[in-house]
Amino acid sequence: MGSGIAQVAATAGHQVLVYDNNHAALQKAENNLKSSLVKLTEKQKITTEQQKSILANVRFTSNLQDLSECELIIEAIVENLDVKKSVFKELEKLVKDTCVLASNTSSLSITSIAAAFEKPSRVTGIHFFNPPTLMPLVEIIPGVATDLKITTDCKSLVDSWGKVTVVVKDTPGFIVNRVARPFYSEALRIYEEGIADIPTIDWAMKEIGGFKMGPFELMDLIGHDVNYIVTETVWTQFYYDPKFKPALSQKRLLEAGFLGRKSGKGFYNYTEGAIQPEPLKDKQLGQQIFTRILIMLINEAADTLYLKVASASDIDLAMTKGVNYPKGLLKWADELGIENVVKQLTALKDFYEEDRYRISPLIKQNFILKKTFY
Ligand SMILES: NC(=O)c1ccc[n+]([C@@H]2O[C@H](COP(=O)([O-])OP(=O)(O)OC[C@H]3O[C@@H](n4cnc5c(N)ncnc54)[C@H](O)[C@@H]3O)[C@@H](O)[C@H]2O)c1
Repeated sequence: MGSGIAQVAATAGHQVLVYDNNHAALQKAENNLKSSLVKLTEKQKITTEQQKSILANVRFTSNLQDLSECELIIEAIVENLDVKKSVFKELEKLVKDTCVLASNTSSLSITSIAAAFEKPSRVTGIHFFNPPTLMPLVEIIPGVATDLKITTDCKSLVDSWGKVTVVVKDTPGFIVNRVARPFYSEALRIYEEGIADIPTIDWAMKEIGGFKMGPFELMDLIGHDVNYIVTETVWTQFYYDPKFKPALSQKRLLEAGFLGRKSGKGFYNYTEGAIQPEPLKDKQLGQQIFTRILIMLINEAADTLYLKVASASDIDLAMTKGVNYPKGLLKWADELGIENVVKQLTALKDFYEEDRYRISPLIKQNFILKKTFY
């Protein structure tokens, strides 16, 4: 993530320093940046001159002291609160009083990271999506103590880099990693219940739902070490809310070391010559699968709005620009009609009698008041 973010800032004309305490990782970051710029030149997205000037804007260092003159530092090191806090503590001693300190964390609380600082008012979340050079979305997350000006300045700066920014309350998973949970968890539940097999669920979400990838293909691509841990973190940070409960079938893959594409095996087998299972292309079953997953995504998007994590338009923007959803979920809810959304959710809640399927109060409110999200 670090080299991608560096490329974005350097392309916008900033002088960028990339710091890593591991020499091999630093070399890898430099190679990644170079090969990414070469590819862009070959595709004629940038000129050779631009390639040279972007590269000239970036320096690589393994000396933390070199960061002392920076105006903004975006931390993208290992996802571990203690490690992040200790590196930030060192940094705070080195940098100028005006330096803004940001974290690219996917799942840790910005407020808890900021607690390590003498001056937590200058700490914020600036959360890019993978790969940062291609994905337009950036979530800006002020912590409880963050100065409002830091938030607005960071938003304008990242906007000026050609990104789409949304301001998000510091809550587990922010927007995208929270609202997207049912895409995986409801698909896993459908599979665990034996309603459909893996290729059929993926087929339904792509063919009928218009999603670019099916949930199992996407989990395999992200890697179960990352995707499962994000689910588990969101679940624990929400005090074990059953809505976010991880699935055992995914945990078993992780325990077996079947991490997905990167290890050659996950829900699918990626070894050469492996025969891929075929979906059962039953339109009625496909529609049932798609509706169930979509309705749970809408329920989470509505709850995210209800709890004022972000605005309706920012929630929809985040899902379309951060994870390529074919449509904003709240807009989708309006198109389906609130009666229909309530009917589908009520059917799930009545059948399972589990708290996991409780209906967002905002959906109930809109139903009673006959209101739309937009
Ligand atoms: N990978 C993603 O899809 C993604 C997306 C959004 C945000 N993030 C977040 O970005 C951060 C980095 O993720 P990544 O996937 O690029 O991880 P990564 O493991 O590829 O890179 C982390 C880098 O941090 C370096 N590092 C570790 N400890 C360090 C220390 N004490 N001092 C200096 N450098 C240190 C490592 O050498 C490594 O090069 C995490 O917080 C993650 O949650 C990741």
